[in-house]
Amino acid sequence: MNITVIGTGFVGVVTAAVYASLGHQVTGLDVDEAKIASLKEGRVPFYEPGLSELLLEQQQNGNLHFTTNYQDAIPNAEIVVVAVGTPSDENGAVNLTYLRSAMDSLAPLLKENAIVAIKSTVPPGTLTEETKRLAEKATVPFRVAAVPEFLKEGTAVADTQHPDRIVIGTDDQTAFDLLADLHKPFNAPILKLNPESAHMAKYASNAYLANRIAFINQIADLCEVSGANIQEVIGAIGLDKRIGSHYWYPGFGYGGSCFPKDVSELSTYAKSQNKVENLFTYLDKLNRDRIPMLMERYAQKIGGWQGKQVAVLGLSFKPQTNDMREAPSVHVIPELLEQGALVKGYDPKAIESATYFLKDHPELQYKASIVEAAQGADVIMALIEWPEIINFDFAQVRDNGKEQWFIDARNQFDPQKVKAWGFTYIGVGQ
Ligand code: UGA
Repeated sequence: MNITVIGTGFVGVVTAAVYASLGHQVTGLDVDEAKIASLKEGRVPFYEPGLSELLLEQQQNGNLHFTTNYQDAIPNAEIVVVAVGTPSDENGAVNLTYLRSAMDSLAPLLKENAIVAIKSTVPPGTLTEETKRLAEKATVPFRVAAVPEFLKEGTAVADTQHPDRIVIGTDDQTAFDLLADLHKPFNAPILKLNPESAHMAKYASNAYLANRIAFINQIADLCEVSGANIQEVIGAIGLDKRIGSHYWYPGFGYGGSCFPKDVSELSTYAKSQNKVENLFTYLDKLNRDRIPMLMERYAQKIGGWQGKQVAVLGLSFKPQTNDMREAPSVHVIPELLEQGALVKGYDPKAIESATYFLKDHPELQYKASIVEAAQGADVIMALIEWPEIINFDFAQVRDNGKEQWFIDARNQFDPQKVKAWGFTYIGVGQ
């Protein structure tokens, strides 16, 4: 098949490379010239394990191309996948500017009966609205569908190749059949939903997972004051098959480019529809309040941040990515600096993006290794569970001449081991 993917952000590049690896002719289209120039040279503008290799392989075998020109990419495409960003505006509502602009540009160039498939995360009603927009400008009949994305950063290639399910939201049987054929090699259940359900399924998945994290964080807080241990509690409740023991680690709350945005958009959508407060609004607030609340709690435990040398290990929002969007470090580091701490940061992949996200904080020192960041520290904050960090032997940086605190922000370390190294251990809910 001839496929064009519009939007070469995270989801777009992974989707394009994986479709190409199935033997399709795929064009990645973006209006960002710098991004396309980099992709044309086989360079992925962000870190994602396995993606560079796949991209190069598919470019070399001639299945994958990139362009900034709609005229080059749309007229031959049988399927146009729209994967542009849908950020939240300042009121928390979804901003569809990029989506609409893509629709306006592609509509007059569509091939007869091409399928326009929206992959971007959008509220119910969007496909119907965008179909009207397309119809005003298209010169031929076309088909539409919603194909929401469920991949995670850090494991995006594997998630796309081995999805739990494929959701296709369309009222058009032919569009469904063609998209089902495209996704058959993934050997996953393929669901035909109405477009509104498909849009909602995406928001609901992310909101449910975000809710799960907020829930376990609340239980962790109660463990902390009651003498219970959250890890024991998770072990016990996780054996209930209705609950499960996965996706359950407590910490600084959820970050990244998806959960905070999607929960806030769902909250705004719910208010606009039902005119009442809702679970998602509260979830959003709980998550926003979490880091300041924990920082205050840690400050009390260590006797204040003023004058403390703090090693912040893990700057990205999660391991295996250099994405800094809504990373805990972006909130934690300014707070530490504001409170008078001397901060040394380390990350295996995200130092460069951190210098951009934390550009207003020149006092922050970036270090090239865990040892350099942690040597002499009063407090070590293991913020993100990069394998290099959780497997590191911190005995190397123990200074026997003073008390050193070890904040295990995601309960990734064995408290006994950290204590044996000589640190005062501070975990979450234990
Ligand atoms: C999330 C969803 O998991 C994907 O299914 C979805 O496709 C994607 O958003 C999206 O909408 O594009 P992602 O943001 O890459 O994927 O990362 P997750 O691994 O889900 O983590 C999100 C946040 O929750 C991170 O800050 C992570 O540290 C935090 N988290 C996750 C916890 O605090 N505890 C957990 O148990 C799990």
